[in-house]
Amino acid sequence: MAKESPHREVLRIGHRGAGGYRPENTFASIEHAITLGCHFAEVDVRRTADGTLVLLHDEQVDRTTNGMGFIADFTLEETQKLDAGSGQKVPTLEETLAMASGRIGLILEFKVPGLAYDACATVRGSGFVGPVIYASFLHEELQHVRRIDPQALTLALFKRLPEDPGATALNLQATHVGVRIDAVTKPIVQSLHDSGVMVFVYTVDKPAAIKRTKLLGVDGIISDFPDRV
Ligand code: G3P
Ligand code: CA
Repeated sequence: MAKESPHREVLRIGHRGAGGYRPENTFASIEHAITLGCHFAEVDVRRTADGTLVLLHDEQVDRTTNGMGFIADFTLEETQKLDAGSGQKVPTLEETLAMASGRIGLILEFKVPGLAYDACATVRGSGFVGPVIYASFLHEELQHVRRIDPQALTLALFKRLPEDPGATALNLQATHVGVRIDAVTKPIVQSLHDSGVMVFVYTVDKPAAIKRTKLLGVDGIISDFPDRV
């Protein structure tokens, strides 16, 4: 029977901060991820109408705030008036880097194309202390990141895995691959490790699923309830 390796620590990654406990993609959520001892907080990045990078998952603000409409139509000033739950604001990326610096790593998931240059510049300008991983389902964005910063850590997210995920990851020059919980298997993890990439699994919330995922030898687990990891 497979055993958990006593040698490797699985990275504990809070999804949208600690989205199961606090309003997602807010300071409160990231603070809670820090309290829970997460190595990383995963957050989603979009752009306002006037170009500021902010944390928001959906293309519309409706589900997670008291406003309505597309974030791409909101100015920063309008965005700052939104309540993202329990009086929390929609943070800018710059504010997030400042509050998280030296306290937790960040996984910045680009939800739309065209964020790579500004995100890398914002991270660089912030003097952020700690690891940053740039993530996206939009793999071209990660290739832009790679061109901008040859040392960057990049997480290629997959909804469905390609036939040879290892080769695809190498082709993308990704350092990490994000596999959905319902797609991950031991051979896939092995093949990705053979290609030299780290394997994160999303989004794993149930304790039994977390236990099973650990047994596969993955490197990180992204969870809304990261204290369970
Ligand atoms: O990091 C992977 C995961 O966050 C992707 O799914 O929809 O929650 O952003 P989603
Ligand atoms: Ca995400």
